[in-house]
Amino acid sequence: MCGIVGYIGNKDSKEILLRGLEKLEYRGYDSAGIAVADEQGIHVFKEKGRIAELRGIVDESVIAPIGIGHTRWATHGAPSQVNAHPHQSTKGRFTIVHNGVIENYAILKRDYLQGVEFKSDTDTEVIVQLIEKIVNEGLAVEAAFRKAISLLHGSYAIALLDEQDKNTIYVAKNKSPLLVGLGTDFNVVASDAMAMLQVTDQYVELMDKEVVIVTKEDVTIKKLDGQVVERAPYTAELDASDIEKGTYPHYMLKEIDEQPLVMRKIIQAYQNEQNELAIHKDVLEAMNEADRIYIIACGTSYHAGLVGKQFIEKWAKIPVEVHVASEFSYNMPLLSKKPLFIFISQSGETADSRAVLVQVKELGYKALTITNVPGSTLSREADYTLLLHAGPEIAVASTKAYTAQLAVLAILAAVTAEAKGIGLEFDLVPELAIVANAMEILCDDKEEMENIAREFLATTRNCFFIGRSLDFYVGLEGALKLKEISYIQAEGFAGGELKHGTMALIENNTPVIALATQGHVNLSIRGNVKEVVARGASPCIISMKGLETEEDRYVLPEVHETLAPLVSVIPLQLISYYAALHRDCDVDKPRNLAKSVTVE
Ligand code: F6R
Repeated sequence: MCGIVGYIGNKDSKEILLRGLEKLEYRGYDSAGIAVADEQGIHVFKEKGRIAELRGIVDESVIAPIGIGHTRWATHGAPSQVNAHPHQSTKGRFTIVHNGVIENYAILKRDYLQGVEFKSDTDTEVIVQLIEKIVNEGLAVEAAFRKAISLLHGSYAIALLDEQDKNTIYVAKNKSPLLVGLGTDFNVVASDAMAMLQVTDQYVELMDKEVVIVTKEDVTIKKLDGQVVERAPYTAELDASDIEKGTYPHYMLKEIDEQPLVMRKIIQAYQNEQNELAIHKDVLEAMNEADRIYIIACGTSYHAGLVGKQFIEKWAKIPVEVHVASEFSYNMPLLSKKPLFIFISQSGETADSRAVLVQVKELGYKALTITNVPGSTLSREADYTLLLHAGPEIAVASTKAYTAQLAVLAILAAVTAEAKGIGLEFDLVPELAIVANAMEILCDDKEEMENIAREFLATTRNCFFIGRSLDFYVGLEGALKLKEISYIQAEGFAGGELKHGTMALIENNTPVIALATQGHVNLSIRGNVKEVVARGASPCIISMKGLETEEDRYVLPEVHETLAPLVSVIPLQLISYYAALHRDCDVDKPRNLAKSVTVE
């Protein structure tokens, strides 16, 4: 979703900003822009489409040591050159970039900005006009900035330039992520450390409702009342090579291939000195005390939660409910007496999940976040964090984070069971090692995955995924992967549910991808496949060794049955990837989607 960068120092800022924006491309955007200031004034370049198009219109002759940049994912107003950021105030004195949603923008317009002519349809323009208005009324810029910010309701990450002071970037944040990066004789602003890793690995976290005055020598954090806040920087432990594609044509393929390695990293990260799986005692205590666990997540992370529920209920014997975050806030179920909330989020920044976290913290409940990003908002604001150790996930379609989420949930469930004295009839460490090996075999079988994609998905307009028990949840994830990157209408169903309505959509040659990895439902899912075949469907059965029959299209290497989702999802990821390639889709940056969904 929208991304922000800013630079102030001695070098020309244009290339630093553009490169920073390129690193934020993965978050998803539909237009981009930069504003840079030199002796002559502020120059704004913005364009609908990709950064490559923006590069084409930037005036190379402008050399400017201060600037801000933005990638926009439209919320208020269509994706267009006019609605792209940066936006300027009427007199052109102030220039702003903004992420988030200003919920009271219409009220602010009515109450403070009558008669002001707006150029765009964005909520953002209200902020910059408001600042100019307050400055025109006589307040100094910093005070005006703080006053304007205090009038905003909603989410925002903001960077602002003042044409009359080319030594300062004004920054503010509420709910949307934003960091300030520190350098020698320069400082930067970024939505995500990855964007500015090219120039620094030293960052300062910002808290909600803080403003920051950034010059090339200093970074001053203040509360909205002007009180100065001291905060030490941290080192962003990101390896620049982790965020490069290397020889891969797409990040998604690289990330699919990284899954065996991620499994092994997770096993290591969660082992103690005796090579036993271990989880921090505070987390175990919280798990032990809980009479019910509420898993909150969105999209792929929600699908991981559905599988995680099975791990926790089966092994640790704690009842679990799994909820879509965007529904939970408005439709909260009756909670148990001692609930524990688990937030699953690759990015740790998803606004829908964060809204629930804020709500449950207000109610006084404990929360654990399972995330890939240390220091992310959901991690900071929860009581406990378990990290995924998957390395940066850049492709919009989540792959390695999903299997990492499953592995961490499995470890959490198994260690909790152990702590409760519940003996499991298997040892999770060798079982996860077997999973890693099976993943490797599947990643090496790409040619076959490409064949399946060509055979079943090259021209179809829709596709169904069916499964029972754990396979149903993996089918949901398979369908999400396929639809988001190939734009094929795809739906996941419980095998037995299809005949209650959706079967009406089965026509001659409709592809139905069926998963058969669970012994206790093997015969039933095969019965469901027969039902769709009788109506003309083309079945593609993916089974697990030991359960296979002659009709199966692909047989997965055998792993512990409850861990099958970690393995059966790999062919679904690869099939989606190749289907998208065949259809000439932008695999890493599917249309209309964003990696980090920072608006509710
Ligand atoms: C799909 C996908 C999304 C995310 C969802 C939640 O491939 O990536 O469905 O899973 O937007 O994001 P996180 O996990 O960052 O909270």
